[in-house]
Amino acid sequence: MRLSVIGCGYLGAVHAASMASLGHEVVGVDVDERKVEALSKGEAPFFEPGLQELLTESIASGRLTFTTEMAAVRGSQVHFVGVGTPQQRDGDAADMTFVNAAVDALLPHVSPGDIVAGKSTVPVGTAAGLAERVAATGATLVWNPEFLREGWAVQDTIDPDRLVVGVPSTSAGVTVEGERAADILREVYHPSVAKGTPFIVTDYATAELVKVSANAFLATKISFINAMAEIAEVTGADVTTLADAIGHDARIGRRFLGAGIGFGGGCLPKDIRAFSARAEELGRGESVAFLREVDAINLRRRGRAVDLVVDALGGSVFKKNVTVLGAAFKPHSDDVRDSPALDVAVRLHGLGAWVTITDPEAIENARRLHPQLNFVDDRDEALRGADAVIVVTEWDEYRRELAPEHAGSLVTGKIIVDGRNCLDAAAWRAAGWQYFGMGRP
Ligand code: UGA
Repeated sequence: MRLSVIGCGYLGAVHAASMASLGHEVVGVDVDERKVEALSKGEAPFFEPGLQELLTESIASGRLTFTTEMAAVRGSQVHFVGVGTPQQRDGDAADMTFVNAAVDALLPHVSPGDIVAGKSTVPVGTAAGLAERVAATGATLVWNPEFLREGWAVQDTIDPDRLVVGVPSTSAGVTVEGERAADILREVYHPSVAKGTPFIVTDYATAELVKVSANAFLATKISFINAMAEIAEVTGADVTTLADAIGHDARIGRRFLGAGIGFGGGCLPKDIRAFSARAEELGRGESVAFLREVDAINLRRRGRAVDLVVDALGGSVFKKNVTVLGAAFKPHSDDVRDSPALDVAVRLHGLGAWVTITDPEAIENARRLHPQLNFVDDRDEALRGADAVIVVTEWDEYRRELAPEHAGSLVTGKIIVDGRNCLDAAAWRAAGWQYFGMGRP
């Protein structure tokens, strides 16, 4: 099939390359000339495992092209819109500027019978608000949210655990036009559909809500365990053992019960805030009032990690060398948007510590945001002379590959704060380190 993808950021670039790898002919459109130029040469504009290879392969096959010219979408049967919906600068709601601009630019080029498929994470009600304008061109609007995780984005796109498509519907159910649109999306995702991946056809509002409620649930799960960590801290309990134990209950499950400095990134924080803001607009703010608490718990944990370093250093980090291991919001990513790791580093710097940060992938992005910090590429170099060390992103380089004995030979003070509860506490203690976890004795 011929497909277009509007917006070539984290979502769009991965979607375009993945669709091409399924055999479709794909054109990616973005307003950013530099991004388009890089992508056209097969260069991934961000670190995402597997993306580079996929781009190279698909561009070489001739099935994938990138351009800044919107007219290039003509002839595509499905137009995916995957632009960003960041948090507004002066509020919690989603900034819809990019979605509106993309739709405005796209509609003059769509043809009757085409499908416009929204992928961006949007406030519920957005699709209903756009449907008429799309229908006026003779095309059909569907909402097809994405559930990809950074670091596993290619895999999640090519082999998702479910597909959700919101289509035109009435109180009597999906319309004939909606059924046709769903069939076209089934064709797009043929390999997943053929292997029996759940394919859920629903109305617009449900499709939009599936996306935000999934992220709200995941954020709540993380803040739940971090709340338990706070209780563990005053009772001497160990939150990791607690998580293991409750996680054995299949109804609860162990995943996303990793206590630590909490969630960040370009999705979870802004999505729960936008959800709260939208619910308030709808007069149902109280239904998701707990999301404000989820956010507050999450932000408190960064402060707790900083306090652990301060306390371990005798009450002040002023003019102390503190090495921060990690800057990305999670491993396998170079994304530092709303990164708790980087926030902890900035807070320590603000308290007068001499902060040195290292990260396998995210240094360049982190330096752009916080040029005042000292970034060092080499992990061992970063550790040299540290009075205290804090792990804030659980990269294998720190979790598995850093031996406590070796680290001990580099630092000045054997103090380690495990902001992700990812280290073997016993091994670090056995090597003479003072080990401090999050919600652990
Ligand atoms: C998240 C969702 O997991 C995806 O399903 C969704 O598609 C995506 O947002 C999106 O909306 O596009 P992502 O932001 O890539 O994906 O990252 P996650 O893997 O969800 O991690 C988010 C944050 O939670 C990270 O900072 C991570 O360190 C933290 N986290 C995760 C914890 O603190 N504890 C855990 O147990 C798990």
